[in-house]
Amino acid sequence: AKRMVVFDDVQQASHHVADEIIQLVGTKPSAVLGLATGSTPIAVYEELIRRYRAGEVDFSKITTFNLDEYVGLSPEHPQSFAAFMRTHLFDAIDVPEHHTHVPAGVANDFLSTAELFEKKIQTSGGIDWQLLGIGDNGHIGFNEPGSPGDSGTRLVELADETIEANSRFFDSPDDVPRQAITMGIATILKAKRLVLMAFGAAKAQAVADAVAGPVTPDCPASFLQRHPNATFIVDRAAAAAL
Ligand code: GLP
Repeated sequence: AKRMVVFDDVQQASHHVADEIIQLVGTKPSAVLGLATGSTPIAVYEELIRRYRAGEVDFSKITTFNLDEYVGLSPEHPQSFAAFMRTHLFDAIDVPEHHTHVPAGVANDFLSTAELFEKKIQTSGGIDWQLLGIGDNGHIGFNEPGSPGDSGTRLVELADETIEANSRFFDSPDDVPRQAITMGIATILKAKRLVLMAFGAAKAQAVADAVAGPVTPDCPASFLQRHPNATFIVDRAAAAAL
């Protein structure tokens, strides 16, 4: 697979990614998809919904695993990633609710919750296809700079810049959770295919570091260089620092 593909605009890039998902689900109806939140994948989900409504794809047999969730937010909380996924995808397609998995943001024991999440991925057969965004600081999921390459699903502290960047979704920065539960770098690298999407100038440095810099925990997305089937899907602005 190509390491990076540059598109003229977000719409074309998103259609390309949606096509890849639809093709996979067409050949393997029980595909296991790894999904992401954030503003970046929204146009992909919109396209999947459009194609589903047009009768071009059937999601009734897929299984999904999301990358991460804020600690302290229940699935009912409007800013939870579970709510995001219902709003932007799950409620509009035919995936059964029990086929969808978002890490639990509220738990008595995050260690066993994280272990259970890893086990569920394994018993599902493993993730066939994983969608990723990237933070301005190079994070993937909520694996902030400093995350080791052998990390599994775990409780993490959010970086100050992540809290700042995500405060736009909350009433005030004080309302942004300080911790999250996230798939680890090793969890992500186990997926058979990785597609990382990045748009806009704010992502340009992170993309350049991830694609062309050293493989280092300083830029968690750089670990994708170790994956045999990982592709960066970007627009011109996000490719500008390469
Ligand atoms: C978030 C998520 C990431 C996401 C990133 C970028 O906090 N945990 O999975 O890729 O930040 O978000 P956006 O796509 O809105 O730029």
